[in-house]
Amino acid sequence: MVNDSNQTRKTILDGLRNSSTPLSGARLAEILDMSRVAVWKHIQVLREMGYDIDPTPSGYILQSDGDHLYRWEFEKGKEDYKAFRELDSTMEEARREAAKGCRSFTTIVAESQSEGRGRGTRKWDSREGGLYFTWVIRPELPLPFHYIYTLAAATALSVTAEELYGIHLRTKWPNDLLWENRKAAGILAEMETRGDRIEWLNLGMGINVNNRLDSPEAVSLEEIRGSRLDRKEVLLSLEKNYRKILIEENPLSVRRHWEKRCGSIGKKMKLKSARGETFSGRFTGLDPSGSLILEKGSGKADTALFGDIYIKEGEIL
Ligand code: BTN
Repeated sequence: MVNDSNQTRKTILDGLRNSSTPLSGARLAEILDMSRVAVWKHIQVLREMGYDIDPTPSGYILQSDGDHLYRWEFEKGKEDYKAFRELDSTMEEARREAAKGCRSFTTIVAESQSEGRGRGTRKWDSREGGLYFTWVIRPELPLPFHYIYTLAAATALSVTAEELYGIHLRTKWPNDLLWENRKAAGILAEMETRGDRIEWLNLGMGINVNNRLDSPEAVSLEEIRGSRLDRKEVLLSLEKNYRKILIEENPLSVRRHWEKRCGSIGKKMKLKSARGETFSGRFTGLDPSGSLILEKGSGKADTALFGDIYIKEGEIL
């Protein structure tokens, strides 16, 4: 259920969107059965949240309608959903929610992040226009299968981009989505365990949707498509596809779906680990533990690699 403030904000926005002329505070106060001062306070909050509402002598005007992700912008089914204009990181807020005992699939979204985190010690550029969120998941699978949740999320985004926009995003081990070798999205997973059980697994996704990017190695879906995208549509479809994969697929078949969407299966590679070791061989897929298999050929044992491995540019054999 949306709470009263959410309902009030939705009513104000609906009124402004459906009105071709300025909507007076007095009229809104009448519709909402509250004082004009109370209306004004709600308008102030909406402005702080990024809505472009201007007070004019004859009433309020919504100057331009942004693509906002607040809960009242969705039709229904967003009970376990918290959206913020800015957060340090959705991973931090998700941690707090998980500790409070929130339900599985609680979603924490931020329009921008001041301390967006990437894997390792990297930062994640999180300016407005992108999609930055964390799902708090209460996994049913035991600890050794934790990687399935990340593979399923990458697969779900690849499916979503294809279904909605005909964009072919390729999965890249372990947690990236690429378009023509440029990064369109990244995934970060954090979890808390008790014995063999995962208490919570927080899965953060940063998707370059309509955001401007500084690095030529990154790409936004807007750039690929040639026009802006509706982030609500992306988020809803992604969540639907993710749940579908997790519910309908045998956990081990998830890696097969991921492999089918991977751009580097079958390629010879030279990889360098974060610790500086190099490995080479043909990338044949993932083993049941989620490790990357590098086939050496000529009777040598294959290598199974897990963790953060970087494919060095120009070093594909
Ligand atoms: C990576 O490719 O290094 C992972 C990037 C993950 C970024 C997302 S944005 C939403 C969530 N909050 C964060 O601070 N990071 C993740």
